[in-house]
Amino acid sequence: MTRFLFLLLFLIPTSLLNGQSRSTQVYDNGLVVSAEVYASEVGKQILQQGGNAVDAAVAVQFALAVTLPRAGNIGGGGFMVIQLADGTSTTLDFREKAPQRASRNMYVRNGEFDPELSWEGILASGVPGTVDGMVTALERYGRMPLELVIQPAIDLAQNGYYLSYTQAQELNSRFNTFSKYEGSKKYFTKEDGTPFKEGDLFIQKDLSEVLEQIARYGRDGFYSGSVADAIVQQMREMGGLISYSDLRNYSSKWREPVKARFQDYELSIMPPPSSGSIAVYQILDMMDDYALSELGHNSADYVHLMAESMRRAFADRSFYLGDPDFNDIPKQDLLDPKYNHARMIDFSMDTITHSSALSHGEFSNNYESDETTHFSIIDRDGNAVAVTTTLNGSFGSKVAVNGAGFLLNNEMDDFSAQPGEPNAYGLIGGEANSIEPGKRMLSSMTPTIVTKDGKVRMILGAAGGPRIITATLQNFLNIAVFGMNAQEAIAANRVHHQWLPDILFYENYGLSPDTIRLLEQKGHQLRTMSIARGHLIYIDPDGKKSSGVDPRGDGHAAGF
Ligand code: DON
Repeated sequence: MTRFLFLLLFLIPTSLLNGQSRSTQVYDNGLVVSAEVYASEVGKQILQQGGNAVDAAVAVQFALAVTLPRAGNIGGGGFMVIQLADGTSTTLDFREKAPQRASRNMYVRNGEFDPELSWEGILASGVPGTVDGMVTALERYGRMPLELVIQPAIDLAQNGYYLSYTQAQELNSRFNTFSKYEGSKKYFTKEDGTPFKEGDLFIQKDLSEVLEQIARYGRDGFYSGSVADAIVQQMREMGGLISYSDLRNYSSKWREPVKARFQDYELSIMPPPSSGSIAVYQILDMMDDYALSELGHNSADYVHLMAESMRRAFADRSFYLGDPDFNDIPKQDLLDPKYNHARMIDFSMDTITHSSALSHGEFSNNYESDETTHFSIIDRDGNAVAVTTTLNGSFGSKVAVNGAGFLLNNEMDDFSAQPGEPNAYGLIGGEANSIEPGKRMLSSMTPTIVTKDGKVRMILGAAGGPRIITATLQNFLNIAVFGMNAQEAIAANRVHHQWLPDILFYENYGLSPDTIRLLEQKGHQLRTMSIARGHLIYIDPDGKKSSGVDPRGDGHAAGF
């Protein structure tokens, strides 16, 4: 069985390694769309062997931990939205938590907040949630044993896989940073110091052993025993905070999805500590009074209306949202159509509302390169899973656990490490998202499943920090309002506004010069930026499944 899987994976044509599958493809049975070709193929094989969407999701998550080390992970966390064919919908929160020894001012040095400390190095990591999440999801909804769904990942780590051009470049671009940390240097640079090349066979022996421990002992294979020893040892050597009891006590959590209605669609979205659900809900509510299809896709008025709605939702995000286990989030109010319509009372189609007039905050354009990954899966019975998973920044804290072969996240940066100070994504947070021991940091990851008449119609989500929220919203509207197919919807140019900085972001060549002029006349300041990478599945009323693979990345659809 193991060998069979591995042989199949080995036969992946190298042309696919650079993400050359771009057109929408239609499938009758199962479909997996992820950011990486080996991982999508693993998911497809699990589905073909009779696994359901949850089995496949767990297999894809572990495969991504091997084949997409910059974002796929076992040292990070994420969110899973599940919609079963019988109508059940739920979500699993396997977001990292602050260690018990974390404290509000842990990134303050000599009275000054030091943003580097929450971004790179040993203090940047929250307690990883991925392994607990995968085991928990599989126990409740999977059909296959853990050993079987994790085996393809073990094979890929043990026998290696061929690096794509992008993967080789990404590893090379971090050479100096990896060289600072013993484990990272060992695992993610070449011994002779030469750069990786496209087509290099990338083998991760220590990681394969960790995956084997997990296969054998479940969550204990990660949160106790030799893997926990390696994590705690790494903490001790570098002055980190994660302890044995943090690891032992980590648990993922089932949560009710936020349900938003738009036209005849019902969206099930990851609730807090993801901010995406409430923000998407609010933006849809604010836009709902307007005839969107008449405004026209990416017309100046459509972009303006969307940007003004985004601005208001992100202002609320910064103030109200954080871990619901630590804060009373006024969810009822934020999800009240009356409230959201009232937020738009001062909206004018002719002119912007300056962000400074909506709330206070600091200007920041401190954007760093970033990485997260989203995948969407549907099985032949119509069960659907949307997962967004991350180390936060590309390659997380950049610290790999020596002896265990995996990178630790830098998710602590998603807290308002200093309330009022922007994080790496320029997001301002408030008290609700301040650091507290055991608390989960606020996220923008927005895995979403959309149904119509009780049937799954879209599985959506993206990577890209706060742009995840606005991209997921636009990908949905592109289909629901503008009738685009899955590939058109994901490829279409997007815009983004997050309240602060008070800038309307658009993609290079994504708006025509006349549209830009009209938006400037309304008062917008515009700037270009690549806006998120999503992976979506669309299911038509006859049950045909089609893929939307984001041309901004190297994603891949594998269906049958
Ligand atoms: O949870 C969050 O919102 C961030 N840690 C996500 C980071 C991200 O998407 C980076 N992406 N490309």
